[in-house]
Amino acid sequence: MEKLVINGGKKLHGSINVKGAKNCALKVMAASLLTDGVFNIKNVPEIEDVFRLQEILKDLGCKAKRHKKGEWSFQADNIHKIELDKNLVPKLRSSVLLIGPLLTRFKKVKMPHPGGCAIGKRPIDIFISGFKTLGAKVKCDEQGYIFEAKQLIGAKLAFPKISVTGTETMMMAAVLAKGKTTLINSACEPEIKALADFLNSLGAKISGAGTPTIEINGVEKISGGSFTVIPDRIEAFSFLALAVATNSHLEIKKCNTEHLTIPLLVLKEMGVKMKIGNDNIKITDASCLTAVNVTTHEYPGFPTDCQSPLTVALTRAKGESYVSETIFEDRFLYTDFLRRMGADIQMINQQKISITGPSVLTGKKVESPDLRAGIAMVIAALMANGKTEIDNIYQIDRGYENIDARLRRLGADIKREKYI
Ligand code: EPZ
Repeated sequence: MEKLVINGGKKLHGSINVKGAKNCALKVMAASLLTDGVFNIKNVPEIEDVFRLQEILKDLGCKAKRHKKGEWSFQADNIHKIELDKNLVPKLRSSVLLIGPLLTRFKKVKMPHPGGCAIGKRPIDIFISGFKTLGAKVKCDEQGYIFEAKQLIGAKLAFPKISVTGTETMMMAAVLAKGKTTLINSACEPEIKALADFLNSLGAKISGAGTPTIEINGVEKISGGSFTVIPDRIEAFSFLALAVATNSHLEIKKCNTEHLTIPLLVLKEMGVKMKIGNDNIKITDASCLTAVNVTTHEYPGFPTDCQSPLTVALTRAKGESYVSETIFEDRFLYTDFLRRMGADIQMINQQKISITGPSVLTGKKVESPDLRAGIAMVIAALMANGKTEIDNIYQIDRGYENIDARLRRLGADIKREKYI
């Protein structure tokens, strides 16, 4: 096992480069199953979720190769099984992305129950009803699900709830379906448009990605091709929150500020002064912070994945802030650890908290309930006085490449320790 040991309470300095987006890379990797052509993907983050997904793809027979740091190729020209590995799938919720490409190309998929995680039960009812709308048969037993369809048939598919991977999975399934599919009430995340633009460059016929209505005209096949993963907007905000929480004049580089409109607006409302370029943001003053009232919302609203880093930064804001979580039912578990560190956070109800500041945090033993709560713990530890130990850091390594080494370069007193 590994833990992070952090001595906080000091300002950081310098700049940090944002890596490729986890929530873009995973989808393009899954899309490689749609063709026997080669996918060459650059700017892939070196994170555990990528390593897990390539293991699952390899287990199916896909050739997955890491050529050098950040550069991978995938080729699904020899898929020899359609049953997803029952030991690997529960480690990666995003395995659900594989159902669409596998079903539409290989007509059958066996998928073990994906399992929930610390932020909610994570059902897949939207996927099941979506595939049925496209003509698939879906059986469920204690082992998991069996999806079957001789040929998926294009249809009008309205999502009852906005689902990011639901939109992506159905969009990929529709690429090789017969006829036209219209996805209604789709998610609008930039990663979805990036995936659609790439698939179109390979011969797919997708229009409207990035808006609530996406139209896909099915094609016989698509080719292989090359893709560069877009910058990780959630990682970019995580580092902005770190700068604000530690009152450090950091520069966040290699990001795409167009994908951060609302998060940047919230920071401005808090009184943070920034210099904002196209691909970089420099915090110039975060000394006086005022309380705000933020509600998470599907893109382009304030992202649920930015909720926990923001909450930590708000412990420094003067007054009473409110944060409401509308996407996941269990995404405030980490606040127990922040209270242990001295934060004045009250649960108003399961979906809303108040944060009264400013409060001074003190280092404690904590852990990472989920990926984004994990980075929130790192931010809290770096602003707290004294030593913090963070356990269960696999959760952080799932989505943040080499986080301790990158933060040390900003002057953070952080080290990774192994223990039995
Ligand atoms: C994606 O998860 C992201 N993951 C999540 O990021 C992100 O928090 C989430 O979208 C919301 O923005 C990836 O892209 C790999 P949803 P996803 O389906 O697609 C409910 C991170 O930290 N729902 O948009 O799994 C669901 O329970 C991760 O990087 C159903 O009810 O989320 C949730 O309440 C965490 N039935 C809401 O919809 C379904 O069949 C939105 O979930 C599917 C989802």
